[in-house]
Amino acid sequence: TRQTFLRSLLQKMTLEEKIGQLNLLTSDMDVTGPFMKENYKQDILSGACGAIFNAYTPQYTRMLQDMALKTRLKIPLLFGYDVIHGHKTIFPIPLGEACTWDLGQMERSARIAAEEASADGLHWTYSPMVDIARDPRWGRVAEGVGEDTWLGVQIAKAKVRGYQGTDLSAPNTVLACVKHFALYGAIEAGRDYNTVDMSRRQMYQFYLPPYKAAVDAGVATVMTSFNEIDGIPATGNKWLLTDLLRKEWGFKGFVVTDYTSINEMINHGIVKDEYEAGELALKAGVDMDMQGSVYATQLKKLVADKKISIQTIDQAVYRVLEAKYKLGLFKDPYRYSDSVKAKEVIMSPEKLKAAREISQRSIVLLKNEGGLLPIKAQGNVALIGPLGDSQRDMIGNWSAAGDFKKAVTLLQGLKAKNINVTYAQGANVTDDSVLLAKLNIPGGNAAAMEKEALDLAQRSDLVILALGESQGMSGEAASRSDIGIPASQKRLMEAVLRTGKPVVLVLMNGRPLTLEWEDKHVPAILETWFLGTEAGNAIADVLLGEYNPSGKLTMSFPRNTGQIPIYYNHKHTGRPLDPNNKYTSKYLDVSNEPLYPFGYGLSYTTFTYGDIRVSKKTIRPAEKLQVTITVTNEGNFDGEEVVQLYLRDVTASVNRPMKELKGFQKIFLKKGAKQDVTFTISTEDLKFYDRNMQYTWEPGEFRVQVGPNSRDVKEAAFIVTK
Ligand code: IFM
Repeated sequence: TRQTFLRSLLQKMTLEEKIGQLNLLTSDMDVTGPFMKENYKQDILSGACGAIFNAYTPQYTRMLQDMALKTRLKIPLLFGYDVIHGHKTIFPIPLGEACTWDLGQMERSARIAAEEASADGLHWTYSPMVDIARDPRWGRVAEGVGEDTWLGVQIAKAKVRGYQGTDLSAPNTVLACVKHFALYGAIEAGRDYNTVDMSRRQMYQFYLPPYKAAVDAGVATVMTSFNEIDGIPATGNKWLLTDLLRKEWGFKGFVVTDYTSINEMINHGIVKDEYEAGELALKAGVDMDMQGSVYATQLKKLVADKKISIQTIDQAVYRVLEAKYKLGLFKDPYRYSDSVKAKEVIMSPEKLKAAREISQRSIVLLKNEGGLLPIKAQGNVALIGPLGDSQRDMIGNWSAAGDFKKAVTLLQGLKAKNINVTYAQGANVTDDSVLLAKLNIPGGNAAAMEKEALDLAQRSDLVILALGESQGMSGEAASRSDIGIPASQKRLMEAVLRTGKPVVLVLMNGRPLTLEWEDKHVPAILETWFLGTEAGNAIADVLLGEYNPSGKLTMSFPRNTGQIPIYYNHKHTGRPLDPNNKYTSKYLDVSNEPLYPFGYGLSYTTFTYGDIRVSKKTIRPAEKLQVTITVTNEGNFDGEEVVQLYLRDVTASVNRPMKELKGFQKIFLKKGAKQDVTFTISTEDLKFYDRNMQYTWEPGEFRVQVGPNSRDVKEAAFIVTK
């Protein structure tokens, strides 16, 4: 049995060999942090390293595995990698993909990523990232699925299912790693690697559920976060990693650090040196040290000094070996490194088809005045903007091993439709030459570019502006204090609008942007995120009406940066907004409402919502409530609609949000058709952490709201009795 095999292996291991299994090092193929160790190959050969990340391809992983198999006990290496939104076939960034509100499609993209990664030598992905985030200044919102806990829970489960399948020993599944545990999305001021401080209630209610959902779904590994939790860094936090994760949630896999976060506890001012850092981390529950080599250099001495017991080390080693066993690596260490299979599986036509379909569904139509979209395929079309023909930007940040040269740009996508389209860059992505250099983008002559673009606009019947952020302006270590379209592009947009030509703004970006000016002045706006390999095709499909957009935002778009944090499920305040009363909660210079609320997104057709019908006015604990609404497609296109259900607990023992998403249904309606959409609510949906931190529901009055987004809802009341 597995246990007998692993126990007997453990017995044969020296302390050095055990410590080696806890040491994860990056290869030099790719580096994803501030520090690189040159001699990692030497460490593999000497058995001082049990896992490698940032190495892939059958050939390269085979070569490294050969080295591991030269060690005394021939324990195979584990290969990890950031397969965040696809491995070779790149899907939309997770924030974009979440806008599909399609759990089946999200599971499908994870399944495809796992198939490609496992065919390319990999065993383990550092995904899903499930950090709830309410601050779009933080660049890493691109990697998460937005601001909502309930939706985050559903997506976390779908992703784990997609990566791990039902059988980790199958050759086309990989270990998933839920990250960043915990609360990384709540960093202060949206500045990456900054501090976090929050109440237990806030944690349990809003931030922890997606991590727990991943654990419940059987996620094999957990990555600690860089931030502290209640004063103690996650990586040294025993309450988090042992009491909560293992004892309360029953997690059985292994815990890995995020890069050098053990070492970083010295900077946090929690330990004085690596010796203390190693002790704190291992005792807290960290099994594997990514890249910091603290375990490699300190554990032996810590054991000799009797600070750490051999049992604690054995426990961590066992967990790592068990993951390798589950993958079948002890039977065949090379089973994921097969170049024939890699050729067959990677970027196959059906995978690209999936990418195109998922990309179409991730696009959110923000505005469409006068039905400007879909565009008619006649006349001269000008495509203007630095993102109109940029392959590198299409696949977005954290695009792993994705080959941007295989990505379809918007220009290419439009040309494939036989449109008479001409392209001009028009502007640099930003005026900031330092940032341009960091992003590796050569700057051009702004005045000459603008002139060329305006001449082109004048000669054209329609202008498509492709603007937003370059891919490196969001993601890790890419926080921004101003989340508007950069000034260089804004000037271009204003000049193009002055030509009087009809303008469609196609946005590409990794976070919500502030778009008040654009919303006022541009007739049609399409949010396309970074859609991945098939980006240009999917956008062209939507622009031409071959796919009717159905995406809905999963993060609020603020009007200006000063409104941040802004999120739909905010709590009651004692002085709610009253425009006629000075002493109520508001700003002097901006509304309290976001520009585009959570759940928002238009279609080329018009869906109307009838009145909300509830099956009863009062329910008892065991009873269920049916909520029904009729949705009618009154426009001229067939289309999909995400019908959303929100609940409000009017009075409770603790302050509850004004509304919380508790269900949705994505429906397809032919033009002219209508459908009754019914949701079933039980007391399970009413649960929350009460005054005593018990997860329960309380009797009383509730409101149920149904609508096309979190703002435009129909409402009904109901009462729950004890
Ligand atoms: O997985 C990532 C993590 O999200 C950020 N730091 C580096 C890790 C490994 O590349």
